[in-house]
Amino acid sequence: MSVHVQNARMTTTRIRQKADNNEPITMLTSYDFTLARLVDEAGTDIILVGDSASNVVCGNAYTLPITLDEMIFLTKGVVRAAEHALVVADMPFGSYQVSEEEAVKNAIRMVKESGCDAVKIEGGEEVLPAIRHIIAAGIPVVGHLGLTPQSVNQFGGYGLRAKEKAEADKLLRDALLLAQAGCFAVTLEKIPATLAAQVTKDLAPYHCATIGIGAGNQTSGQVLVLHDMLGLNQGFQPKFLRHFAELGEQVKSAVQGYISAVNDRTFPNEKESY
Ligand code: KIV
Repeated sequence: MSVHVQNARMTTTRIRQKADNNEPITMLTSYDFTLARLVDEAGTDIILVGDSASNVVCGNAYTLPITLDEMIFLTKGVVRAAEHALVVADMPFGSYQVSEEEAVKNAIRMVKESGCDAVKIEGGEEVLPAIRHIIAAGIPVVGHLGLTPQSVNQFGGYGLRAKEKAEADKLLRDALLLAQAGCFAVTLEKIPATLAAQVTKDLAPYHCATIGIGAGNQTSGQVLVLHDMLGLNQGFQPKFLRHFAELGEQVKSAVQGYISAVNDRTFPNEKESY
């Protein structure tokens, strides 16, 4: 019998240790085997199969339409690619809000069928019972506060969250509740940097990491949508986003090169023929 040893894999314990030791944590999205393999080989700590797949993969305007079955399908490919990174899958809208029982059932489906290591859930106090039940079932959870795109219709857009004291206070309370419930990390999206720094300090006694996107550089780690940071999603340029490559331009120019080579019959050449 061969035993598959996974000691090189990232774990939630190691993520907590990295936060404790103030070692930056890197998280990037992936939705398919090929890009996840590259992201994993490049050494990212966590691969997030985000429900941003709804926008990036499916072309929807919102994250709301993507289903649990679709998220499981995408996550399977990413799990096959990830030899080192921890794979976290987003629980999509509607999969954890109805009841705690349904939330646990759906989180178990996600882990059993996709093979992911942990799930991410948007929201604070309102979804705490669901999060507690999922953690009690042995599934690690990443929380998600600030701009939670599944609530876009309630917010009325994708603007900066928690600018006002009342919302900032609620976010601080929610973050503590998530850490106390056992979340090993909390994503903080599009909130003031000073607030994210405060949350990071407050969660330190619970060995709970904070992973920021548009939340300044005082969080335990950072996350970006891969297609955004690679410059593949050309129309999207919020202030927090840095392009680490311009692959959109490279893809277009490669495709144009192919089209003209086929048109002038220089592809395939003799060496490329049998
Ligand atoms: O779905 C997603 O990609 C996310 C990140 C933006 C954090 O939740």
